[in-house]
Amino acid sequence: MKYKTYHVVTFGCQMNERDSETLAGFMEELGYSYEPDKIVAQVVILNTCSVRENADKKFFGVLGQLKHSHEENREKLVIVCGCMMQQQHIIDTLKQKYPWVDLVFGTHNIGDFPKLFKNVSEMHERIIDVWENSDTIAEGLPAKRMYDFKAYVNIMQGCNNFCAYCIVPYTRGRERSRKPAEILKEINCLAQSGCKEITLLGQNVNSYKGEEGGIENFAQLLREIDKIDGIERIRFMTSHPKDLSDELIDCFKDLKHLCHCFHLPVQSGSNAVLKAMNRHYDREQYLGRVAKLKEVCPDIAITTDIIVGFPGETEEDFKDTLDLVKQVRYDSAFTFLYSIREGTPAASWTNQIPEEIKHERFNRLIEVIHEIQEEEMKQFQDKIIPVLIEGTSKTDKSMLTGRTESLKTVDLPGDTSLVGKIVPVKIVKAQTFSLYGELVND
Ligand code: SAH
Ligand code: SF4
Ligand code: F3S
Repeated sequence: MKYKTYHVVTFGCQMNERDSETLAGFMEELGYSYEPDKIVAQVVILNTCSVRENADKKFFGVLGQLKHSHEENREKLVIVCGCMMQQQHIIDTLKQKYPWVDLVFGTHNIGDFPKLFKNVSEMHERIIDVWENSDTIAEGLPAKRMYDFKAYVNIMQGCNNFCAYCIVPYTRGRERSRKPAEILKEINCLAQSGCKEITLLGQNVNSYKGEEGGIENFAQLLREIDKIDGIERIRFMTSHPKDLSDELIDCFKDLKHLCHCFHLPVQSGSNAVLKAMNRHYDREQYLGRVAKLKEVCPDIAITTDIIVGFPGETEEDFKDTLDLVKQVRYDSAFTFLYSIREGTPAASWTNQIPEEIKHERFNRLIEVIHEIQEEEMKQFQDKIIPVLIEGTSKTDKSMLTGRTESLKTVDLPGDTSLVGKIVPVKIVKAQTFSLYGELVND
C-alpha cells in the first residue's frame, strides 16, 4: 500500500516559512498527511534560500541525503522550489548532477503547485518550471499554519532596492503589495480562530503601497490592524531605514497592540560602505531615525542585521560599525560574514576582504554586541512582564517557554494548558541570551 505522506524542509527567512505553510496546505488538500522524517515521507519538498553561500550548501547537503532513499523507493517524489531555483546556475547544476529530482519550480509560481504536482505524479517525468518574474500575488491559497496562536502574514512580495550584496531582488522579483482588504480579511480570520500574535512580512514593509483614497501606506495599514479584536501583538519585518517615516514612528505612540520592538537593519556603520552597498542612507540619518524612535517610545527594543567584510571595508570602516553599535545599544543583532552571491554587483568587485580579516572583525563585533546584550538583559531581573507561552522548552521538556514583547525567550515552570496564552511572569534569572521566570498569579 502506498502511504500518502509528505515532508517540507524549509531554509531561509520567514517568507519561506510562510510559503512552506502554503505548500503544506496544498499537500493536505491533496489528501497527504505530514510525516516528520524526510527519508520516510513519500513526497519531500525542499523550499530553498540563497541569501548566503551557507544556505546553498545546506540545500545540497540535504539533497544528497535524499538520493539514497529516492533510489530505494522509485515512487518517492523529490520536489525543490524557492529562491535558489530562480538562478540559472543552480538549475544547470540540478540538471547535470541531480537528474533524479522530480519537480523544480520557483518563487513566482507557488500558486500553480497542485497542477505541477498532478503532472509530475502522473507523468513520472521531471518537470522544471521557473518563471522569471510576476506582477501579481496569488490570493486564496491554502495554508497549514505552524501555530494556532501566532502567524506570519505576508503583506508584500519582492524587493526593488538592489543592495549591492543581495540576491533577494533577483530571486523574489519586483516589489508587489497585497491589497489591504485581502490582508485584513486574512488577519480577521486568524483572530477569529484564536490567533493572538501576527508578524507582517515583507522585504521592505516601509514601502508598502495600498490603495489610493483608502489605506495607502504601511502606517495606515497598521492602524487598521490594531483595531482587529483578538490580535494582542503586532510585529513586522523588515524595515529599510531609508523609508522609515515619521508616520510609522508615531504608530509606536498611538497603537495599543504594536510590540515595542523594531528590527532596523543597518548593515554597516561606515558611510563609505553604506554608499558602496547602495543603501541610500548614511549613519547620521540612521542614528537620527533611532533617536526619534527612542524619543517616541523610550522602551523600544531595537535589533539589526550587520554584514562584516563587505568588499572594500577598511579597519576604519569597521570601527565605525563598532562605534554605531555602541551608540544604538542594540537589543540583539544578527551578524553575517559577507558572502559572494553570483549575479549581484558586489560579487564581481576586486576589493574582496580576505577570510581571516572577515573572521577577526566578526569576532570583535560579536564581543561588543554580547557585552551590550548582557547589560540590557540584566534590566529584566525581578521585573514582571507579559509572556506569550509558545510550548515546552527545547532543552528541558518539564519547562514552558515563551516570548516577551521584544522577542526574548523566557523559560518557566508551568502547565501546558497555558500554551497560547499571554501571562504575567516575574523574571528570576536574566542571562545574556535567555530569561528564567515564574508565573505570577493575579
Ligand atoms: N530585506 C531585508 C533582509 C533581507 S536578507 C532587509 O533589507 O533588511 C537578511 C539579511 O541578510 C540582510 O539584512 C543582510 O544583513 C544579510 N545578507 C544579505 N545578503 C548577504 C550577503 N551576500 N552576505 C552576507 N549577508 C547578507
Ligand atoms: Fe536585499 Fe536590500 Fe532588498 Fe533587503 S532591501 S532584500 S538587503 S536588496
Ligand atoms: Fe533566503 Fe529568499 Fe528569504 S534568499 S532570506 S529565502 S527571500
